[in-house]
Amino acid sequence: MSELDYQTVQDYLVSLVPPREAELLEMEAYAEKNDFPIIGPACGYYCYQLARMVNAKSIFELGSGYGYSTAWFAKALVETGGGVVHHTVWDEELSNRARRHLVKMGFADLVQFHMAEAVETLRQTDGPFDIIFNDIDKHAYPESLPVIKEKLRSGGLLIIDNMLWHGRIFDKKDVSPATLGVHEFTKQITSDSDWIVSLTPMRDGMIVAYKR
Ligand SMILES: C[S@@+](CC[C@H](N)C(=O)[O-])C[C@H]1O[C@@H](n2cnc3c(N)ncnc32)[C@H](O)[C@@H]1O
Repeated sequence: MSELDYQTVQDYLVSLVPPREAELLEMEAYAEKNDFPIIGPACGYYCYQLARMVNAKSIFELGSGYGYSTAWFAKALVETGGGVVHHTVWDEELSNRARRHLVKMGFADLVQFHMAEAVETLRQTDGPFDIIFNDIDKHAYPESLPVIKEKLRSGGLLIIDNMLWHGRIFDKKDVSPATLGVHEFTKQITSDSDWIVSLTPMRDGMIVAYKR
């Protein structure tokens, strides 16, 4: 068998995602044009699938950008009979942009918007949550874990993006705060027996961790 090319696999995974709403396509086009790091269609659809699988009603997102990942979770909530997804981002322009997209998609009633630092917002928000999704600045991943662990219900899912960090985790000379943050977080969660953890090499690598 010939060697698998990473990009070929990723393109194939995206090709398997069913047709999606025009608004999601527009958000993808904006990300492409502006080089904004959204999770993209394969991971978005995966988040939607996971939310459906656990029949999620309460979801907390850390680092929501302009609401692309939020839209996938909200889409699942519609099908699980309603609930809430918390959108958190500290940038006003992104928060407003997210609101516009999510209103247009008919998801406004399902989303609670927070324009603030995400970990502190999670700390101050009543849980427990069925799903917590983490996509904040990578250097801050390790310090987010204890708060996430406290706020996620037993049997809930933690989904964390960028766990391959564009391949930088394989470069031993890369000691940037972001790369060290991804390493440290991975070590913490995989060495804690309260979690059942796997890393899916989809796009930039997503960890899905089940809290016992
Ligand atoms: C990777 S982007 C989010 C993409 C989004 N999850 C999606 O897939 O559509 C991360 C966003 O969260 C913001 N952010 C990073 N760290 C944050 C923090 N600690 N609190 C709040 N926002 C944060 C960044 O400024 C950026 O807008």
